[in-house]
Amino acid sequence: MCGIIGYIGNKPALNIALDGLKRLEYRGYDSSGILVLDNKNSENGGKYNVFKSVGKIKNLETEIADSVVAGTIAIGHTRWATHGKPSINNSHPHSDCKKNIWIAHNGIIENYKTLKKHLEEQGHRFFSETDSEVLAHLIEEFFSHNENLEESVRLALKLVKGTYGLAVVSVKEPDKIIVARSGSPLVLGVGQNENFVASDVSAILNYTKKVVYLDDNEIAVISGSDFTIKDLNNEPRKKEIQLIEWTIEESQKKGFPHFMLKEIFEQPESIENSLRGRLIVEDGLAKLGGLENVTEELRNIERIIIVGCGTAAYAGRVGEYMLEEYAGIPVEVEIGSEFRYRKPIIDKKTAVLAISQSGETADTLEALREAKRKGALTLGIVNVVGSTIARETVAGVYNHAGPEIGVASTKALTSQLSVLALLTLFLGRQRNMSLTMGKRIAEELKEIPQKIKIILKQNGTIKKIAKKYKNSKNFLYLGRKYNYSIALEGALKLKEISYIHAEGYSAGEMKHGPIALIDKNFPSLFIAPRDSVYEKIMNGMEEIKARGGKIIAIATRGDKKIARLADDVIYIPKTLEMLTPILSVIPLQLFAYYMGVSKGIDVDKPRNLAKSVTVE
Ligand code: F6R
Repeated sequence: MCGIIGYIGNKPALNIALDGLKRLEYRGYDSSGILVLDNKNSENGGKYNVFKSVGKIKNLETEIADSVVAGTIAIGHTRWATHGKPSINNSHPHSDCKKNIWIAHNGIIENYKTLKKHLEEQGHRFFSETDSEVLAHLIEEFFSHNENLEESVRLALKLVKGTYGLAVVSVKEPDKIIVARSGSPLVLGVGQNENFVASDVSAILNYTKKVVYLDDNEIAVISGSDFTIKDLNNEPRKKEIQLIEWTIEESQKKGFPHFMLKEIFEQPESIENSLRGRLIVEDGLAKLGGLENVTEELRNIERIIIVGCGTAAYAGRVGEYMLEEYAGIPVEVEIGSEFRYRKPIIDKKTAVLAISQSGETADTLEALREAKRKGALTLGIVNVVGSTIARETVAGVYNHAGPEIGVASTKALTSQLSVLALLTLFLGRQRNMSLTMGKRIAEELKEIPQKIKIILKQNGTIKKIAKKYKNSKNFLYLGRKYNYSIALEGALKLKEISYIHAEGYSAGEMKHGPIALIDKNFPSLFIAPRDSVYEKIMNGMEEIKARGGKIIAIATRGDKKIARLADDVIYIPKTLEMLTPILSVIPLQLFAYYMGVSKGIDVDKPRNLAKSVTVE
């Protein structure tokens, strides 16, 4: 997830672009850049200035300092790295060979390697490691034949596989910005003798409230006085201008009251991004480019140790069950803070897999370093590109879940679970997993985003259930097998953002102690999908019921039996047992969210917590 801003009009564009980037910083801040172009009719017509810097937008602001730049056309970009580390060279806007065409891109070009190879063969020189840069050279290639920027962008996009929100300018046609969208958001802002483009309205609300949302496969040509929108086949599209009534703050959160809720609702999209280009359903395979350099070592490993902290460690525990059941590899999960101080037995046939959203968690990082010292193959599942863990592992898989701003991890977890399912498929198919099983996992995984959308529709019901239990002081979260870890995660989420005491337990262990706590004031939350341990978990539910305990259940759609036992039921669609955690955790995130909100807690920044724990 990156942010794009564009301006064309009669005012100096640099500061307008900088202001827009500041408002888009929440979309990522690995690096940023602005390209300013002088208008065709000005005395410098066709000249440009470019500013780039690594890190937060304030660094770009320092870089720009007191520069006086008269140009009235600009495109700007704030980067959340996906391909290539955060660096000046990898910062947008990117240019073609001759520095005539400049682009700012948000999204992932899946076929960039093929396109890049082809373009290099034609003599194009690349300056960055990004997937995005191929767009500039591809447009250049067409422009060298037709000298028409709009047509060149259109033809280039027809060759591209993946997602894009794109803004393009050229010193050869300094009176327009061409923008296009497929899968990554873009909105046009309509002003008086000036027009804007941005990844979201928060970047332009200071200047105009009139906007046009672009849809997928649309290209717009924007000048200072006008705009036209067409589809990729050159057919004009008629679009309505809408009036925005949100404040800037509301619009950054896309109208959601908190980043956490926005991130919960983003999960169909973030999982889609984690899976994009990685599933070959018809062959029952996972394609993981980040593991290509260790494919042979992975064939020979005899054991995996997963390390992580908090939510990431809970993801690891689900991974343990997946990998042992379907890939047949022995797996252990350890929290980083324990692993680093004991004497784990590791050899060259052991792979140590670190899971971390931030890629900076000190305990996970030190565990990884210890594993490296002992000769293990080190791997990572990391969300933040170029983070320390990503750099220090030999190979790995990026989550591509987009920046997570709410302190409590939500979309990073479901992305980690999705990547672990991909890894299971990858390693399983290297070993004994059948084609039929591979296809089954791939097909079910592909359906997950759609199924999450169904769960999110129950938001209102979950809110009501949270209201009903808002005065409870304690909760027991219970699950078994794949959902044991989700019981731990649900309890952690509730503790973190509502400050209510909650314990996560294996439902099988409940009778060995915690059941003593149960009375009418101590509710239990059961995760009880129709899976291989369903009957066992129902026994546990009977035991709680018999002791007067209240029960909230997460159940599979159509399960009438559970409705007779539980006081409240939240339904999830059916899926493969190993994938149920990706669905069952969604109601728990929403439940914790509404419990926190009902107590007036700032759920995005709960007390005593930090998003990235870089201390011991
Ligand atoms: C819980 C939460 C934490 C993190 C943990 C690891 O909601 O966010 O438990 O999961 O601090 O962080 P990362 O994944 O950045 O290593």
